[in-house]
Amino acid sequence: MNKVLGTLNGIDFTIGLTILELSYLIAALLFVYGLKLLSHPETARRGNLWAAIGMGLAMITTLLFHKNSNGEGIALMNVWVIILFVGVGSVIGWIVARKVKMTAMPQLVSLYNASGGAASMLVALLEYPNAVAGDVASILVTILGLVIGAIAFSGSVIAYGKLDGKVGDIMKPFMTYLNLFLLIITIALSVYLITSSRPPTELVWLLYILTALALIYGIMFVMPIGGADMPVVISLLNALTGVAAAMAGFIYNNQAMILGGILVGAAGMILTILMCNAMNRSLLNVIVGSFGGSSGEGATGVDQTVREILLSDAAVLLSYSQKVYIVPGYGLAVAQAQHLCHELDILLTDKGVEVKYAIHPVAGRMPGHMNVLLAEADVPYEKLMEMDDANEEMSNTDVVIVVGANDVVNPAAEDDPGSPIYGMPIIKVLEAKNIIVMKRSMATGYAAIPNNLFYHPKNRMLFGDAKATLQKLVAEIKSL
Ligand code: TAP
Repeated sequence: MNKVLGTLNGIDFTIGLTILELSYLIAALLFVYGLKLLSHPETARRGNLWAAIGMGLAMITTLLFHKNSNGEGIALMNVWVIILFVGVGSVIGWIVARKVKMTAMPQLVSLYNASGGAASMLVALLEYPNAVAGDVASILVTILGLVIGAIAFSGSVIAYGKLDGKVGDIMKPFMTYLNLFLLIITIALSVYLITSSRPPTELVWLLYILTALALIYGIMFVMPIGGADMPVVISLLNALTGVAAAMAGFIYNNQAMILGGILVGAAGMILTILMCNAMNRSLLNVIVGSFGGSSGEGATGVDQTVREILLSDAAVLLSYSQKVYIVPGYGLAVAQAQHLCHELDILLTDKGVEVKYAIHPVAGRMPGHMNVLLAEADVPYEKLMEMDDANEEMSNTDVVIVVGANDVVNPAAEDDPGSPIYGMPIIKVLEAKNIIVMKRSMATGYAAIPNNLFYHPKNRMLFGDAKATLQKLVAEIKSL
């Protein structure tokens, strides 16, 4: 393995090093391939597996063939310690992933983000004293890895606590200024450490202060963000974890880590931007703005008569329709009514009704929330229509059933310039011939604004828990 095959840029390429570099290249290709497969629910599982194989390959070849600058491999004792901890971590990860409920997925993602951030922070803390004074490039990546990793770590821990209901929103007006102040000193101290010509070993105490500042900033930055905005913040923290991992990769000049980190960072950032676009809000507005609740007007000027529909009438209307659209929302997830939705779909399809689902990109509380729920209930993926495609078909739809959705079908987004959701793209259910809204009350949704759709002459309310109502509706249709 130590036989030199050739020399490139002064580096002797032994067989071992060549295998290592090749394995990193294969791992990188597998990451990209895995990411591509992840973009479709039907191939996502395989994508995850291929990316994991890539990571496994990179880890094994690193243990076998990595050499430090003195040409020494990893000490055998360390190899065993690494294997032991990777084994323990894998078993814990496997058990947790099997046990976690679909609704608790965002919490789990937060914890994974926290681990990634912590790992990059620890790498930077360990490697900083070994940096050469004045070597700006290597100190720069070390400090960036430390600061970004620490923010991602503490921010993700708070995000986990908030999503799990263990930590509440704390929003005081002074926090914006405090956060800005913390950010400025963190940046100033980072710049000092990066540009200082003093040996890093003399500045370790300052590095500890920087770590503490970044950790506090992570907490303070996530603390005031509203609970339902957390999915955007989680994907932002995910992007930060990726960038921190890429920095750690630069510290070790490890291509697999650099590429893996960059892919996570880029994917997380794209997702963050997509979610912000789907809500028609800027990232800054998500981070510092409060969303919703400001327009109490809602139903002014609108006849506030609420029309209800009997289950039997709803059953007849649906059974004799040609085309039905189901619009799922957060309430579907709360009620866990996805299986019954599919049952209704099968029942109607058997009667010759064309049934499709209109999926709003931010329906629910996490990216792809509705897709995940409906996939869990085995709804064929071809039946899930993206918002724009569904909107094109609304005018020739006989009945739209809105199951636990509210903001994503609120016409104020189109016709009330004073509304906080004005400009947010919606599923245009008003264009359909009939609308049935299933929810428990007239309560508002996440944006805390009234919804005039509920008073529209085309709409009829079917009050109750979505699961219980769907159960009764399915029974009613069966008895027709
Ligand atoms: P919401 O506007 O939050 O409305 C959900 C509705 O479900 C509520 O009005 C509630 O009314 C009803 N509901 C709750 N539990 C129910 C149950 N057991 N049975 C029947 N209905 C029930 O949800 P949406 O339309 O999906 O919109 C999502 C909102 O979250 C948007 O404002 C979006 O911007 C925001 N958001 C989403 C994301 C992501 S990534 N998805 C990220 C950030 C923000 P009742 O209480 O009367 O039943």
